[in-house]
Amino acid sequence: MLAVYATGPHPDAPIKGIEAGARPFPEPPEGWVRVKVRAASLNRHDLWTLRGVGIRPEFFPMILGCDGAGVTDDGTDVVIYPIISQPGFVPSGSSGDETTDPARHMLTERHHGTFAAYAAVPKRNLLSLPASMSYEAAATLGCTFLTAYRMLITRSGLPAGSTMLVQGATGGVSTALIQLGRAAGMRVWVTSRSQAGRERAIALGAHQVFEQGERLPERVDGVFESVGRSTWSHSMRAVRPGGVIVCCGATSGADPSADLQRLFFLQISVIGSTMGTLDELRRLIAFCTAGNVQPVVDRTFPLDQGRQALELLEQGTPGKVVLVV
Ligand SMILES: NC(=O)c1ccc[n+]([C@@H]2O[C@H](COP(=O)([O-])OP(=O)(O)OC[C@H]3O[C@@H](n4cnc5c(N)ncnc54)[C@H](OP(=O)(O)O)[C@@H]3O)[C@@H](O)[C@H]2O)c1
Repeated sequence: MLAVYATGPHPDAPIKGIEAGARPFPEPPEGWVRVKVRAASLNRHDLWTLRGVGIRPEFFPMILGCDGAGVTDDGTDVVIYPIISQPGFVPSGSSGDETTDPARHMLTERHHGTFAAYAAVPKRNLLSLPASMSYEAAATLGCTFLTAYRMLITRSGLPAGSTMLVQGATGGVSTALIQLGRAAGMRVWVTSRSQAGRERAIALGAHQVFEQGERLPERVDGVFESVGRSTWSHSMRAVRPGGVIVCCGATSGADPSADLQRLFFLQISVIGSTMGTLDELRRLIAFCTAGNVQPVVDRTFPLDQGRQALELLEQGTPGKVVLVV
């Protein structure tokens, strides 16, 4: 079958490791099912895999693609949940859930991903595709939208009517946060380095936009971070005393100045967030269906042009890119 895969780790030139070609059909083990992939979205995680981050060398060659939507052999339309936990994992502590399982992994870390005609996933990792959503839109749910949903709804604790600042407008997590924040009744403020990014944020539902690092008219209840070093000090200055910063990533660097004086004096809560649970994906789908939220897809490519699509992602193309199978 046709697949887009990583041949091996290329820490400094991830694009070098991309191959589009024939790979064996998946043979689902007991408890797993085969899905005919219809659409799968690109995520920065695919670039990390190409660099060899989060994957051991012996797992190459690895079919890329962490999320997707498709059809099972019995004709059911499905959305794929990308996290594979230990069967029977029992979280410790009241805040634990399957995202805290130390042995969890994502598709493409040990098992092949979704940039292929077929993928194999555990049966529990499939949820019904809502009738109101296309395969392309649904392909964005399992990774970026789920990450944004958990940040906003589960981790931030912000009630509707709060003011939230999203750092960055053009990334997948940012665009999902803007769409979900608006639908959840937040006042959504967004920064972007570019005029195009700011215009895009407004089109997605932002109430107000700012240049990166610009002084805001007032401090916000919560900041949503996936940028890291370039925006962190602004995030610390933007949040109100007692407010919250929820962080899921650090595209521009993971070592910003912590600004501890501000942290303790203004009693700012900094909360990490990673992906989401299967139940959160179920609730995200219900949230999108009830609120008529359609994840925005900016560009689609046929599967055999996966390399070109990944090159665009590496160059920093705005918004979500989806491969159509
Ligand atoms: N923990 C998790 O579960 C999880 C899940 C998904 C993603 N992530 C991580 O979250 C991060 C964001 O991912 P993404 O998919 O949204 O895509 P991305 O392509 O990494 O997004 C880049 C974002 O950063 C902004 N940005 C601002 N300053 C930047 C700079 N100096 N260099 C680069 N970007 C800058 C861009 O906004 P403007 O262009 O508008 O300024 C854009 O919104 C990644 O690091 C990813 O690995 C984590």
